[in-house]
Amino acid sequence: MIQAASERKGIILAGGTGSRLYPITLGVSKQLLPVYDKPMVYYPLSVLMLARIREIAVITTAEDRGAFQRLLGDGSQWGVRFTYIVQPKPEGLAQAYVLAEDFLEGAGSAMVLGDNIFFGHGFLELLSVADARRTGATVFGYRVADPERYGVVAFDHAGKAAGIVEKPAQPPSDFAVTGLYFLDGSAPSRARDVRPSSRGELEITTLLESYLQDGLLTVEKMGRGYAWLDTGTHASLLDAGNFVRTLEERQGLQSGSPDEIAFSNHWIDSQQLAHRAAMFGKNAYGGYLDRLLEQA
Ligand code: DAU
Repeated sequence: MIQAASERKGIILAGGTGSRLYPITLGVSKQLLPVYDKPMVYYPLSVLMLARIREIAVITTAEDRGAFQRLLGDGSQWGVRFTYIVQPKPEGLAQAYVLAEDFLEGAGSAMVLGDNIFFGHGFLELLSVADARRTGATVFGYRVADPERYGVVAFDHAGKAAGIVEKPAQPPSDFAVTGLYFLDGSAPSRARDVRPSSRGELEITTLLESYLQDGLLTVEKMGRGYAWLDTGTHASLLDAGNFVRTLEERQGLQSGSPDEIAFSNHWIDSQQLAHRAAMFGKNAYGGYLDRLLEQA
């Protein structure tokens, strides 16, 4: 059975300075760097496509917009539609909702950070549960060894989310909030009320707190069977690439391929996939798409 597309719209937030990866990111956007065999942004894009989202805004810096357009085009090669939005300055994650307000037209959204990489059995179900919630916000908590580097969830005695704090010196739990946010149509107006934090940013955690205050925040725990990979440092970027390589070589399956997802979602047909495969010629990615065609 072919499942209907989600009514939600997608946002990929791919701006920022990437300063933690200097000097590499002095010349190229962080989210375009390779993670083994694909550009980083393919992985979060795949998450939105797995959630069956076809209308997607890509938010970039003014300088990098052209490079993203060269890579992603208008989306028709995957049966999706991209709208490009510029964030003039990296003034915080919550600003994405203000910038995307016209694009969203009141619809609910799923926003993914352009440098977040997820894998895991059961991910599709997790996404579809979040997608099905029409009101409120759903975020994902993931246990990490270094919660102070992230937005962190505080839980009450009953295990319910009681607060979210950005980069706390004394983390209230080991559960970081991942960079994937399912918010309802009220997100832009809530984001407009967010005031800059002490570090001068419109924090996503402040926006999430507003849902929490209204009793509208769900934190889904991503269990230990999931991988949420970090790409924030030179070492973790290399580790993420090695992880993808290990997985792909072991299984003979791609992870984070928009071409494969578009085909399995029936958003493109064999002819369109064959056209894409031909573009990549005899390299491993092209060969993989050829095999998908043979199997179909
Ligand atoms: O990765 C999950 C974490 O992402 C969350 O746990 C935190 O709550 C959230 O604040 C964020 O923390 P980071 O320290 O990773 O945020 P960073 O400033 O590195 O930005 C994350 C990505 O978003 C990065 O690829 C750059 C992009 N970005 C960032 C800002 C501040 C933008 O496109 N625009 C911006 O204004």
